[in-house]
Amino acid sequence: MRVLVIGSGAREHALCVALSSDPAVTALACTPGNAGTRALAEAAPLDVGDPVAVAALATGWGADLVVIGPEVPLVAGAADAVREADIACFGPSAEAAQIEGSKSFAKHVMAAAGVPTARAWPVGGAAELETALDEAGPPYVVKDDGLAAGKGVVVTTDRDAAVAHGHRVLDAGGTVLVEEFLDGPEVSLFAVTDGTTVLPLLPAQDHKRRDDGDAGPNTGGMGAYAPLPWAPPGLVDEVLATVLQPTVDEMRRRGEPFSGLLYAGLALTSRGVRVVEFNARFGDPETQVVLPLLETPLAGLLHAAATGTLADHPPLRWRPGAAVTVVVAAPGYPEAPRTGDPVTGADGEGVLHAGTTVDARGTVRSAGGRVLAVTATGPDLAAARQTAYERVAAVRLDGAHWRTDIALAAVEGRIALP
Ligand code: AMP
Ligand code: GLY
Repeated sequence: MRVLVIGSGAREHALCVALSSDPAVTALACTPGNAGTRALAEAAPLDVGDPVAVAALATGWGADLVVIGPEVPLVAGAADAVREADIACFGPSAEAAQIEGSKSFAKHVMAAAGVPTARAWPVGGAAELETALDEAGPPYVVKDDGLAAGKGVVVTTDRDAAVAHGHRVLDAGGTVLVEEFLDGPEVSLFAVTDGTTVLPLLPAQDHKRRDDGDAGPNTGGMGAYAPLPWAPPGLVDEVLATVLQPTVDEMRRRGEPFSGLLYAGLALTSRGVRVVEFNARFGDPETQVVLPLLETPLAGLLHAAATGTLADHPPLRWRPGAAVTVVVAAPGYPEAPRTGDPVTGADGEGVLHAGTTVDARGTVRSAGGRVLAVTATGPDLAAARQTAYERVAAVRLDGAHWRTDIALAAVEGRIALP
């Protein structure tokens, strides 16, 4: 099977590592890719936001399966274009990807499917914003309704900051959603689906804030770990029955079947499990810890989802132990990351590349805010965490920063369920 991965982050590097260890994969390409994926996969330049270009590349390269990593090509219709070219594609249609692309669309689907989520107030203009904030009360949750690359949400007790974020989104021509605040620890649960059958993966936890102790601004994700030793027994079955399966069934009922990766961002609140958000793709950095624990060959699984044959797929097998990934970020991330700095020591085991490139002289240089996702597995979370940080210590990037507490609260048994 010739497999083409679309994207250029550490998620795509993790996908390439898993795909390259599947004996069914005879050729692997990752476009546009990064300095890390280049060691495993062929690369070519690509505008990932152009569905026609994605389909043309897939046809020209002779792909048997295309795996689309990021949300932008999905929302633009890349999966539709690839399927129109008669190539199997892992990833939802543009219509189905609206479950991530529009938070209000996701709310409608959840309401129709009876899926528990935060109460929401859609805001059409500045006057409604104040009323919605009054009704919701603090802490305030103010969201950009559309795709915002992880920067669309502000959670704050500072009313002025909440109002300012709402105005920023409205002034940019966007739509705002004010939401009820959800307490309790967050869980990311991925499910592979062909639009009918749903296979959940292992639950993971992301660390979204920039700094230790969950301080600082929201980011795309500063690190992750899996599995979750503190998760209640039966969590995955419960989320499958109350969230994932009803959502997939509702999408099919609407004539917009969702196939690909359905990512449920959940809060385990005092009133039960609530959906914080859906994404239409593998999460980053959670993929970097979930895939190293998956023993089932990945290409066969994704191909079964892409071709509607997941019901015949054997149950997933998992390796024992745990995985931890620590994001090494460029100075200035997330507001204004500096790029172009040399990165050394980044070819060791477990070092997944995110924003990197190779210059004409063969030097690896930073090319994005999140530069590396340094990953390790181990017999338990404490061991995986220790190895991951040893590996972080071996990389060099001027001015780099990373959190020192990834998975620490879980290792120390400090995560309390409300
Ligand atoms: P989202 O883009 O919807 O995933 O939001 C980004 C992050 O903001 C989430 O991972 C949460 O940490 C936080 N967040 C979003 N919605 C809520 C909510 N209703 N209550 C509390 N925190 C939230
Ligand atoms: N880990 C957050 C995301 O992928 O959206």
